[in-house]
Amino acid sequence: MRPIEIAKGIYEVGAIDWNIRDFHGYSTKEGTTYNAYLLVDEKIALIDTVKREFADELIDNISQIVDPKKIDYVISNHTEMDHSGGLARVMHRIGEDKPLYCSKMGHKNLLKHFPRKWNYQPVANGGELSLGKWTLTFLETRMLHWPDSMFSYLKEDRILFSSDAFGQHYAGLERFDDQIGEEIMYHAKKYFANILLPHSPLILKLVDKVTEMGLKLDMICPDHGIIWREDPSKIIKAYVEWASQEPKRKALVVYDTMWHSTEKMSNAIVDALGEEGVDAKPMHLRNCHRSDIITEVLDAGAIIVGSPTLNNGLFPTVADFLTYMKGLKPINKIGAAFGSYGWSGESVKLINRELEEMKFEVVDPGVKIQYVPDETGIEACYELGKKIAKKLPK
Ligand code: FEO
Repeated sequence: MRPIEIAKGIYEVGAIDWNIRDFHGYSTKEGTTYNAYLLVDEKIALIDTVKREFADELIDNISQIVDPKKIDYVISNHTEMDHSGGLARVMHRIGEDKPLYCSKMGHKNLLKHFPRKWNYQPVANGGELSLGKWTLTFLETRMLHWPDSMFSYLKEDRILFSSDAFGQHYAGLERFDDQIGEEIMYHAKKYFANILLPHSPLILKLVDKVTEMGLKLDMICPDHGIIWREDPSKIIKAYVEWASQEPKRKALVVYDTMWHSTEKMSNAIVDALGEEGVDAKPMHLRNCHRSDIITEVLDAGAIIVGSPTLNNGLFPTVADFLTYMKGLKPINKIGAAFGSYGWSGESVKLINRELEEMKFEVVDPGVKIQYVPDETGIEACYELGKKIAKKLPK
């Protein structure tokens, strides 16, 4: 299926990783792609490479279009190794002296990964590179999502090569948004929630800046998943919505359980929320992957966390989830805690402390129940659900 000409003289030459199921802790149940782009003009440029083990596939794909030695320039939009892992192999094949364009931070970061005497050409924000009839403009996008990240924009054809932004971990034979339709939006949302969420304020600023600059976009080419060509504005609008993190009347009850007591508590909370018209969902931490839960966290107004007390602490999966969520810095949430215990019962206090550190509004001291919830205990959980429902937007 690769290479594919995505516009006249522009080819997607990367690789499909059908089998990856864990991408540094993110569940990639449908695999992913490492997209790389070959621009054939008077000069030939390669934008980004692939993960190291796919480097030969990249070179084979390029060879179907041009002799790799004819590549004049390599552009690295982002240092992370899913896009730079193949760089050493590519540079060796095309010529170690070929100019390698990257941001100034990219230069620093690439040197840490590849301490070699390559012909680095660090570029400033707004720097340009002429390929003949085409000109590439480089736009620094620091912390979207690494300090080195940048976009490359082909102004004549109005194509944005956007690195990780607007990507999705999705491996399929479809290459464009119009070939897959609405289904891709879940993958784009999951990608945003798990990779870009902590940088939401920067995304909103970037969209403002791009609007001010009047950049026209006919196509957005990310480094993962499908290319946006039917309606590139759709994914930009979705990013604005996701980055705004407006809470919905939606609640997640995220929990683990040892002997089903904390689970019974979760069920009572979910029932009460549902009766109040809240879109409520229980998410058991050993049945739902943390990255799928975070996708739901993105637009939920309330996150209610339940944990048994195990050896005076949190159940390990709950601690894992709280650590992961804290790093992603979700905003505009209310929260509460619950859990069963045997003799010491620290879990509710520990969860509350974590939620407060995340700047969630903790709306109740929480419900802790010794051993198995009786009718009064279930009622307390039910009341907690009702209280949370009252605090959520109508
Ligand atoms: Fe797809 Fe930040 O690498």
